[in-house]
Amino acid sequence: MNPYQFILKKRSCGEHTAEEIREFILNYAAGKGVEPYQMSAWLMAVWFNGMTVPELSALTQAMIDSGDSVDLSSLPGVKVDKHSTGGVGDTTTLILAPLAAAAGATVAKMSGRGLGHTGGTLDKLESVPGLRTNLSAEEFMNQVRRIGCAVISQTGNLVPADGKMYALRDVTATVDSIPLIASSVMSKKLACGAECILLDVKYGRGAFMDTLENARELARRMVDLGQHMGRKVRAVISDMDQPLGTLIGNALEVREAIEILRNERPGSALETVSVELASHLLEMAGICPDLDSSRKKIRELLVSGAGLRKLGEMFAAQGGNGEVVNDVNLLPQASIIEPIPAPRGGYVTSIHAQKIGFASTALGAGRMRKEDPIDPAVGIEMKHRVGDKIEKGEPLAILHANKRETIAEAKELILSSIVIGDEKVAPRKLIEEVVE
Ligand code: URA
Ligand code: CA
Repeated sequence: MNPYQFILKKRSCGEHTAEEIREFILNYAAGKGVEPYQMSAWLMAVWFNGMTVPELSALTQAMIDSGDSVDLSSLPGVKVDKHSTGGVGDTTTLILAPLAAAAGATVAKMSGRGLGHTGGTLDKLESVPGLRTNLSAEEFMNQVRRIGCAVISQTGNLVPADGKMYALRDVTATVDSIPLIASSVMSKKLACGAECILLDVKYGRGAFMDTLENARELARRMVDLGQHMGRKVRAVISDMDQPLGTLIGNALEVREAIEILRNERPGSALETVSVELASHLLEMAGICPDLDSSRKKIRELLVSGAGLRKLGEMFAAQGGNGEVVNDVNLLPQASIIEPIPAPRGGYVTSIHAQKIGFASTALGAGRMRKEDPIDPAVGIEMKHRVGDKIEKGEPLAILHANKRETIAEAKELILSSIVIGDEKVAPRKLIEEVVE
């Protein structure tokens, strides 16, 4: 494999062999024979010319083989995993992981951190006093064996090729390529070892994919990849045009997850999507025979408090204060609570999720660069969703801040993200479709 000829082939719309893809990726990951500028040029050629199904499988397999894979086979039960392509107020993991575990599924999950306008499960979890996400492989396996679930940061040397390729994509305008996203996401999910993988592909102005068509194509390619590699994979395409949850920020999102598991927010968007995702997992795992019986089981576990107790057990097992599930005041709280009044009355016609995410980041809840610190206590409490009627002066949202100087920017972003009109509009469907 000559890197120059390899790049030229993709630039000329040729098709790579599996062997040459493997050599190119493994050499680059090992830091020998393929230079970063050559990888960058190839990524751009892929951005323009795409990849065939066999090419994408070979790429994904080579990325997996650049590092270690997790072997979950010694754990009892059916191993399930869920991945969201990311969004704002997207706290489904903290709700569905304990519910699925309480139903008998095995949830051995590795999650990520937030970046830019999107939140990350690890940052949210770490707002629970004492909680650790950097468990060793042994602690992780023991915890899952004992209580059925764990959510931790990546252990070991998982898909190092992805980290190196993503760093180049980030600075060469090649992140938004469907085959590159599909291989990046699926290499990591497949390396984590679950038998059933549910993908929550978001679309809208707070998501990677802005249109339904692109979300559908990404979902299709990821489902095909996973099935080709012998896993049970399904994708739901869900709305991320407005934030999913009501609370945005780290401790605030943990609080909303707890309140949902206490059955205190029945019918909310976040509850609806979380229950639906958990139900898909139960059906995929064969724990319930169909989606309707899965939904019934998940609802029972929610209403009975079994999901809440499992979340408390998980917090405690990871060194956190499990009592927070009974008293959310034990979570960090911001010192400044500032309502944002509606500038006029009418109907909420749209809420720009990405801008709300950036407002939360401006308050200190998120990070613009990977190394930035975050403040677990701060964030935003949304008071309305699309379709709601509001009066002038009523709070649109409430800021939770710790620094006065962060308020003006957050306020401006929120006011510019919420459109109030005269006509009532119907919100988009929470779950648009299922791809399998
Ligand atoms: N998330 C990933 O993990 N990889 C991508 O390429 C895009 C989003
Ligand atoms: Ca995420």
